[in-house]
Amino acid sequence: MNILVVGGGGREHAIAATLSKSPLTTKLIVAPGNPGIETFAECYPIAAEDILGQCKLAKDIKADIVFIGPETPLVLGLKDELSKLGINAFGPSKKAAQLEGSKTFSRNFCKRHNIPQPEFKYCTDIDTAKKQIELLNGYCVVKADGLAAGKGVVVCDTVDQATIASREMLEKNKFGDAGKSILIEERINGIEASVFAVSDGNNAVLIGTAQDHKRAYDNDEGPNTGGMGAISPAPALNQNLNKEIFDNIISPTINGMKLEGYPYEGILYAGVMITKKGPKVIEFNCRFGDPETQVVLPRLNTDLVSIIQKTIKKSLKNMTVDLIPQNAITVVIASKGYPGEFEKGVLLPSLKNFNDRNEISVFHSGTSKDKNENLISNGGRVLSITSIGANVKDCRQKAYDVVEAINWEQGFYRKDIGKLQKLS
Ligand code: AMP
Ligand code: GLY
Repeated sequence: MNILVVGGGGREHAIAATLSKSPLTTKLIVAPGNPGIETFAECYPIAAEDILGQCKLAKDIKADIVFIGPETPLVLGLKDELSKLGINAFGPSKKAAQLEGSKTFSRNFCKRHNIPQPEFKYCTDIDTAKKQIELLNGYCVVKADGLAAGKGVVVCDTVDQATIASREMLEKNKFGDAGKSILIEERINGIEASVFAVSDGNNAVLIGTAQDHKRAYDNDEGPNTGGMGAISPAPALNQNLNKEIFDNIISPTINGMKLEGYPYEGILYAGVMITKKGPKVIEFNCRFGDPETQVVLPRLNTDLVSIIQKTIKKSLKNMTVDLIPQNAITVVIASKGYPGEFEKGVLLPSLKNFNDRNEISVFHSGTSKDKNENLISNGGRVLSITSIGANVKDCRQKAYDVVEAINWEQGFYRKDIGKLQKLS
């Protein structure tokens, strides 16, 4: 089977690495890919958001399946365009991807289908926003409605903070059109978990859980990032909670989307908060998480290509997905300064000694090569180091041994990935 993977970060590296091990894969192509992916798949320098370019490539290479990694091409309708060409894509349609593309759509959808979530208020002017902020005593979350590369969410403690964040979005155009309308949400407490399901539009099955570490620094301090590391399975979850999340969140979402005329096909990522009143939806994403994929896929013990085939044929019903019982953790090495300003093009240490270690994977998130073929940094999150181990302690030891041995002086990483948190 000819498979094209769209994207070029750590998530796509983990996806491509998993697909490359399938006996059903004959040819694996990634666009744009990265220097890590290049070592085992053919890469083409076509941006993930270049819808026409990706369609042309898929046609040229006679792709049997296109796996769309990031949210932007999904929200822009890459799946729909590929379908017009008769090419099968794994991922939701433009309309179904609204679950991530519009936070308002997603909140209203959950409300219509009684899916547990925080209270929220939709605002397009500062006066409405201020009234809601005052009602919540400033203990709230301000969110830009549209896609803002993970930066459009401000968790607030005070009226001042929330008012400033709202003004920046509504009046100062901080996120352009994405922030022209905002949500002021009730701020809920608990432990977060990322839950991944795969759906064929009619049926869904859980494919793994993880806990992301979103803040930049240890002990969950510092600004929000795309994710500084992850652990799988999510420590906050157990079989009962997984079932509760499936029955009260995943299943009504798949049924609701079908009922409303946008059957959801592909990966559904539910970001949930386990509160004292049970799991509630923080957000939906229409794709795998990054860096969660780097811990979810290494634990997958069912062939990913056959899961995708069953999704495309709408025959996921009764499919079981098997995961290895071991834990996985991934530690992200980021450029100093991230998620604020950081330098690109900084030389990276050689990674040769780490790639063949048992139960270790070095995924490239933001790397590239200079004109002398040296590996350089090319993003905020640069590498993510995954280890598999019999228990969390063992995983942490193995992953941090490698992170320390890489010893990239211009980078930084959290030292507490996978340390257990208590429910607050
Ligand atoms: P999002 O991009 O929607 O996942 O939000 C980023 C982070 O903000 C989440 O991972 C949570 O830590 C936090 N967050 C978002 N919404 C809420 C909420 N309603 N209550 C508490 N924390 C939230
Ligand atoms: N790690 C969070 C995300 O992928 O959105």
